[in-house]
Amino acid sequence: MNDDAPLVDALGRVHTNMRISVTDRCNIRCFYCMPAENVQFKPRSEILDFEEFVRLARVVARMGVTKLRLTGGEPLVRSDLPRLVKQLREIEGIQDIALTTNGLLLAEQAAALKAAGLQRVNISLDGLQAETFRKIARRDGLDRVLAGIAEARRVGFEKVRLNAVAIRGITEGEIAPLGAFAREQGLELRFIEFMPLDADGNWDNSQVLTGETIRRELEDVFGKLVAVKRTDPSQPAVDFAFADGVGRIGFINPVSAPFCGSCNRLRVTAEGQIRNCLFSGEEWDIRQLLRSGADDHALAEMVRECVAAKKPGHGIDSDDFVPPQRPMYQIGG
Ligand code: 5AD
Ligand code: SF4
Repeated sequence: MNDDAPLVDALGRVHTNMRISVTDRCNIRCFYCMPAENVQFKPRSEILDFEEFVRLARVVARMGVTKLRLTGGEPLVRSDLPRLVKQLREIEGIQDIALTTNGLLLAEQAAALKAAGLQRVNISLDGLQAETFRKIARRDGLDRVLAGIAEARRVGFEKVRLNAVAIRGITEGEIAPLGAFAREQGLELRFIEFMPLDADGNWDNSQVLTGETIRRELEDVFGKLVAVKRTDPSQPAVDFAFADGVGRIGFINPVSAPFCGSCNRLRVTAEGQIRNCLFSGEEWDIRQLLRSGADDHALAEMVRECVAAKKPGHGIDSDDFVPPQRPMYQIGG
C-alpha cells in the first residue's frame, strides 16, 4: 500500500487524529489515573526523544493525520515542550496542535507554547474547592491551576477548554459552581465520566456520575440546556448551550454512551508504543523500529496494521470487559 493512503480500519473509520503522550511523569497523583505513592516511571532511555516523535508525526501526516494532541502523564513536566510544538507545527498536513494539561505549570509556559504555535489547550479542573482538588489529586495545587487558566486566556489560544472528571460521592457539589465559573470566564466546559483506567484498579460502575445526571443537575440551576448541533461527527462530546446563550457545556460519556463508532484517534505512548484505543490490550512497538534504522515505509506499515486491528468498541459495559493493563498516566488521556 502507498504510504500516503488514508488510515482506515475494518469499520471504515478514517483516522485523522493522533495523541502523543510525551511523558508518563506527573506532578500530582489523581486517584483515577495514578497510584498514590511509589510510581514506577519508565527510564528516560525508553522515552522517545523529540526527533522520534516528529518523525512518526511526519509519517502519519502523510497518511492523513491532521490533528495532534500532546498529553502525558503531565506534558508540561517534560522540559522544552515548546521546541516540540514548533517542530510539529512545521510538518506539512498538520493543521491543529492541542495540549491536555493539569494546568499546574501552565502559567509559566503558556506564552512560550502559544509563540511556538500551540493552538488549543484543555485544562483539567474537576472542582473549585481546594478540598476536592486534594481528595482527587492527593496533592495541593488548585491555585496554580487557576493561575494557569488565567494565563492561558490572557495569551489568547484559539480555544481554552476545561475538562472535569465527574465522580459520584466526590464531585456532585462541584457541578453547578463549575458551570457558573465557565460561564463567567467564557470558557467551554466538558464533563467526563470516570473510566476504568485508574492505577489502583478500584473503578466501579457505581462511581460513575453520568453525563445525564450532571445535565439534569445543571438544568435545575441554570434552566434548560439546548442541544448544539454537532459540527464534527468524530468529536466525543455532546454539546449543549445555556438557554441565555452564555457559555457551552459538553458531556463526554464513554461509559454510559460509548462513541467508539465514530472514533478517529490513534495514540502513541511516551515510550513509543502505538495504540488504537485507550482500552486496547495490544500495542505496536514503533520505538523498536525507530531505533533499528527502519525506513518510513516500515513505520507507516506498522501504524496501518495497528489501525486495521482496531476493535469496534471498548465494551466497558459488557460482562467480560477487561480493563487495560496500563493505567491512564501510561497511555495518555
Ligand atoms: N477517567 C476519566 N478521565 C480521566 N482522566 C484521567 N484519568 C481518567 C479516568 N480514569 C482525564 C484527566 C484529563 C484527561 C487527560 O483525562 O482528568 O482531563
Ligand atoms: Fe497527572 Fe493527569 Fe494523571 Fe492527574 S490525570 S495524575 S494530572 S496525568
